[in-house]
Amino acid sequence: MATVFLEPSTRTRLSFETAMLKLGGKVISIPEPNGSSRAKGETLYDTVATVAQYADIVVVRSSEPISEWGQVWSKTKLLINAGDGNGQHPTQAIADLYTIWKRFGRISKLRIGIVGDLEDSRTIHSLTDILRLRPQTNEVFLLNTTQNDYHYPFDFDGNHILKSCEELEELLPTLDVLYTNRVQEERKLQVSAPKFFMTREHLAAMKPNAIVMNPGPRREELHRLLDDDPKIVFFEQARNGLYARMALLLHTFEN
Ligand code: NCD
Repeated sequence: MATVFLEPSTRTRLSFETAMLKLGGKVISIPEPNGSSRAKGETLYDTVATVAQYADIVVVRSSEPISEWGQVWSKTKLLINAGDGNGQHPTQAIADLYTIWKRFGRISKLRIGIVGDLEDSRTIHSLTDILRLRPQTNEVFLLNTTQNDYHYPFDFDGNHILKSCEELEELLPTLDVLYTNRVQEERKLQVSAPKFFMTREHLAAMKPNAIVMNPGPRREELHRLLDDDPKIVFFEQARNGLYARMALLLHTFEN
C-alpha cells in the first residue's frame, strides 16, 4: 500500500498504515507534501499514477477532487480516497458508522444530530451521503456552525436542517448521536469561531447512553476538559478508524 498525503493528517494516515502493517502487508509513502515531484509542478494525477507503479493500493489525500479518476484508473490498482478537499472522506464515514453500530448494535432507528461546517466538512458530506443510502431508517438533524448561511443540498426524508443553536439545544435530550466537527478554517477566506460548542450543560441534557462524536482534529466545538464524560467517544472513534480500515483492506483483498 502506498500513502500519498498532500494535506495534513494524523488519524487517517496512521490508521491506514497501521491497518496494513497489522494485516501483514507493507507500506510506502511520500514523506511530506513537498517531498515529491509535486513540488516540481507535477499534476496530482501523474504523481498518483506513478506511485501506483510501485504498489497495489494507493491511498490519496489531496486538496483536489479525485472521485472522477475511478473511470481512468487501471483495473488492477485500487485507489482509496482518504479525503479530497471539501469533497468527500468515505472511509471516515465507514469508521463513523462502525462507532455508532458498536454502541447501539444497529445503524437504524436512531436520531442523529450533525453539527459543523456543512459547506466544507468532507466528513459530514460523506456521513450524510452514507446515511442517505438507506433513507428513512434514521432521523438526521443538521446544524451549520459557520457564520455563513449555507443551504445543504439534502434530499432524504427525515433529514432536518436546524436554523439555530437553540433548536439543537431543544433536540439534545432526544438524540442518540451528536456528531461534531470543526469549522474548516483552511478552506475559508475569513475565519470565525463556531456558532455551537459543547458544554457540560449540553452533555447533562443528553440521554445517558447517547454518544458525542468528532472525527478530529477537534477545536473549540469539543473541549478536552469534557472528556471525563463517557458520552464523548473521541479517542474510541480514532481507534475504530483502525479497525474499520483493516476491515476495508481485507474486504478489498478478498474480492
Ligand atoms: C477530518 C478530515 O481530514 O477531513 N479528519 C479526519 O480525517 N479524521 C476532519 C477535519 O479535518 O476536520
